[in-house]
Amino acid sequence: MKRILLLSAATIISAALSAQTVANMNDLKPEKKAMAVSLKLTGELSTKGNSDYRQMRDLCFQTRTIDLSDANSTELPNNAFHSRHQLEHITLPKILKSIGTQAFFACDKLHDITIPASVEIIGAAAFSGCKSITELTIEGQPVIGEYAFARLSGLKTVKLNSKVPPKADVSSFYGIAPGSVRLIVPKGSEKAYMKATGWSRFYAEPKMGNEVSDPTLCLTPMPQVLNVQKGAKTLNVHTAWNIVVAHMDGEGTILNNEVEQAREMLSNRIGNIVNSRQRGLQLVLDIDSSLEDNEAYTLTVDAKGVNIKGKTPSGVFWGLMTLDQILRGSGNKECVDAIPQLTIKDTPRTHVRELMVDPARTFIPFNELKAFIPEMARYKLNALHLHLVDDQAWRIEIKKYPQLTEQASYRWGQDDIQMPYKGYYTQEQMRELVAYAAKYHIDIVPEIEMPGHEVAAISVFPELTCHQRRVPIRTTCGVSNELLCPGNEFTYEFLGNVFKELADIFPSKYIHLGGDEAGNPALDCWTDCPKCQALKKKIGITTTDRSENWKLQGYLFDRIIELLRDTYHKTPMFWYETDFKKIQPGCVTFAWRQGLTEKALDAAVENNARIMLCPGEHCYFDYPMAKDDMPEVNWGMPVTSLKATYSLDPSWGKGADFEKNNLFGVAGTLWSECITTPERIYYQAYPRAIALAEAGWTKNKPSYDNFLVRLKSTAKDMMRRGITFSMEY
Ligand code: ACM
Ligand code: ZN
Repeated sequence: MKRILLLSAATIISAALSAQTVANMNDLKPEKKAMAVSLKLTGELSTKGNSDYRQMRDLCFQTRTIDLSDANSTELPNNAFHSRHQLEHITLPKILKSIGTQAFFACDKLHDITIPASVEIIGAAAFSGCKSITELTIEGQPVIGEYAFARLSGLKTVKLNSKVPPKADVSSFYGIAPGSVRLIVPKGSEKAYMKATGWSRFYAEPKMGNEVSDPTLCLTPMPQVLNVQKGAKTLNVHTAWNIVVAHMDGEGTILNNEVEQAREMLSNRIGNIVNSRQRGLQLVLDIDSSLEDNEAYTLTVDAKGVNIKGKTPSGVFWGLMTLDQILRGSGNKECVDAIPQLTIKDTPRTHVRELMVDPARTFIPFNELKAFIPEMARYKLNALHLHLVDDQAWRIEIKKYPQLTEQASYRWGQDDIQMPYKGYYTQEQMRELVAYAAKYHIDIVPEIEMPGHEVAAISVFPELTCHQRRVPIRTTCGVSNELLCPGNEFTYEFLGNVFKELADIFPSKYIHLGGDEAGNPALDCWTDCPKCQALKKKIGITTTDRSENWKLQGYLFDRIIELLRDTYHKTPMFWYETDFKKIQPGCVTFAWRQGLTEKALDAAVENNARIMLCPGEHCYFDYPMAKDDMPEVNWGMPVTSLKATYSLDPSWGKGADFEKNNLFGVAGTLWSECITTPERIYYQAYPRAIALAEAGWTKNKPSYDNFLVRLKSTAKDMMRRGITFSMEY
């Protein structure tokens, strides 16, 4: 029934696609915004908060043509149309002065654009990845930022009216091969363009200058010990490389994967000159069991080449990721010309450095999810936690219950955004993800929430909740009053069947069981349920009001924990909540609530439990990184600055014993109620995830200012590769 209604809503909307002309977005009703295929705005356009621009970007999901020619707008804000994949054509305001950073990042259907004569500045990466732009016209003389028109693979013609070449960065048109694009400039100014920075690449390869890598300026996370041998001869890397495994063990080596990774990395950086048997440099990979930590490695560069030793393959792999950054250097080009002789000894501070993604709220297409893995590995992040189900959707195929994904992986809308949110992962895809991530030494940790945040399952199986209330999946953020019913045996049968399949798909030692936001005030759901009250009596809970309902949650957890431990040998994980008055021994507790970290840590120590640090004030990457940064409209999120993330102290001032006995790791969250495209997950994640990686990896991490210096090279590298990140730091 519900499905039919949803489909007909979609049909009505597509049947009524419309052209709209208004002064401002607030003149349009929500459904008109969702229906508009073409849009003309003529008023004074706002740029902050729920601005005209934010509404065009986030609420007009079908809009293909936008005409702002008569709009009173001098500033196109940063991220104005960030990753709006549907946008095909835009006429910019005639009086526009500035185009913000990443304003059209990855608008990959956008074609033929004219930058009006009034424009004075075009921000970094403003049109990066707009690969359908064939013709670009620049009427005036704007200052053009770094990578502003990078990766425009479809570009055929650039027309300029200015006799004096606009001031451009050498990277502004990164990716344009000489002679591949017609540059049409006013008569007599060809020579000036031929010589001008940024424009000369239309005629000849830009000269980049020789670069010797400086690891003190480019490594993130910073290794524990780094000694660069100043004065020693540097190694020219553009030569033949041979990958050698020092100790073979029978049929090959336990380093097969690392050899493969090393080959790929060197080929990407240097070209196809690997294992040519020519004289050249050696990359030696080896196991050194004398190292103390499973992830520890040493890396030396001497006159013969590079030697990486790890206690285990994962240590060797992290050594390779360090070498990759050394070869990358300043990030201005694919590979430096030479590297210095040096010694690195490195070992992590914490063993779990996690990012959590939330495909439940906004589905992340499988290939995009997979692409997240190598990016994490660059910074030695080693766990990806998948929040697979919530009130808004069920995103993992369960063969026993196909109805879950058939009926609860589609919904219309999220808060003020009217658009379809759909998709789920097959088990086959999840197995592929696990195997792929393993090559990067990244653990995939699944999460199935209980007893709250389960409305998607309840919408399919009402018997999962008290009173068998049939509730629709949620289309807003916030917390539902509907919980799983701990008094009903079907709840255990259902969860048992789900975990049976999950345990078979995900080899991780860990399964996250959620446990957050089920008690305030939602535990009332259990107060007037005869099954819950009967269970209370049976297990000796004497109160009938809500005061001891949390003990029912304890009962539910105990049964599921026992199942996961005894049958599947898994360690369960939980979000810490104070209304749930105990810490499950032997499980991992996540300290997440802003302001409650101290309490969570004390409780963990008292109960001899392990704790994951992901406190909101340091680790919630779904929050904006600065005021007015994306997501400009949200449910009242505070700011989590890059500096705040970097300053995370994994020991929380509690000393070495806490760190040794209780600290499990650090995690960054990317809840996706307000993240509408896959690119925007990267935008929220980076660069904070790099700061988190260093906080979690580096013992005695350097100052924030030092981090910012090293981040420059990573930021350049990301821009060059077309990876989006927040520039608001
Ligand atoms: C959470 O952010 N609800 C764990
Ligand atoms: Zn109940």
